[in-house]
Amino acid sequence: MSYNLLKGKKGIIFGALDEKSIAWKVAKRAHEEGAEFVLTNAPMAMRMGEIKKLAEECKAEIVPADATSVEELENLFTKSQEILGGKIDFVLHSIGMSPNIRKGKSYGDMNYDWFLKTLDVSALSFHKVMQVAEKQDALNEWASIVALSYIAAQRVFPDYTDMSQAKAVLESIARNYGYRLGKLKKVRVNTISQSPTKTTAGTGVGGFDVFYDYADKMSPLGNASAEACADYTVSLFSDLTKMVTMQNLMHDGGFSSMGISEDIVNMIQK
Ligand code: NAI
Repeated sequence: MSYNLLKGKKGIIFGALDEKSIAWKVAKRAHEEGAEFVLTNAPMAMRMGEIKKLAEECKAEIVPADATSVEELENLFTKSQEILGGKIDFVLHSIGMSPNIRKGKSYGDMNYDWFLKTLDVSALSFHKVMQVAEKQDALNEWASIVALSYIAAQRVFPDYTDMSQAKAVLESIARNYGYRLGKLKKVRVNTISQSPTKTTAGTGVGGFDVFYDYADKMSPLGNASAEACADYTVSLFSDLTKMVTMQNLMHDGGFSSMGISEDIVNMIQK
């Protein structure tokens, strides 16, 4: 169901890799709500070609950019404003990647070059996006910027290794840049801390199925789906949440407030 919540708004959506991606669902919901946007992803991810299908469905153009490259981000913001015919009202940062996780490295055996890569791709890129937007004066007043995070920023999930630190940095960047952009242009910046979700990035984490089931059994509402995350993200891009900024917003079916649940007790007692 559409409420025209984003009618007339222009945006940039990072991170739609395939139909399972959270960014893919956000793009579809944003389109339903009347937004116009540019889709972007790393040139490597583009080669798989799936994003073209999404672009057709959403009548969106694609501008490739490696989110760790300031130069490519400058090109992205310049081109996006040309394509959309004006400044930007919303940005979704839905980017995460850890070479250490990909290669199955344990927390006691980190490759530090890869650790830096994890931080660059998954956290610093968020700062770069906002710094480029600020320098180009590319954002409209009351624009909304959202990045996706995970509760491993605050709690220990051993298999999440260096991504835990990346998410902690990401959330800190949201607060600090949120202050700056709020003062400068009344722009709001938030992170959404999402339940485990069956996507390429999600299922790449060791033991994913176990902590997916664990979170599902701990949460009174169960795990939040990617579709529900898209609904929440759209609400944050809309004018209905204008005074929400510098927050890490839990979107997890209640998981973060739980100690233990009856479902988990029953499982352990078996
Ligand atoms: P996904 O694998 O579909 O999306 C990750 C995206 O990051 C891909 O589109 C990939 O191409 C992009 N990316 C990687 N390196 C890049 C670079 N250098 N420049 C530009 N883009 C790059 O997986 P998902 O789950 O949709 O991930 C989106 C966000 O949600 C990530 O920040 C992830 O950490 C976060 N998240 C995911 C959860 C899950 O369980 N799937 C839970 C909580 C947060």
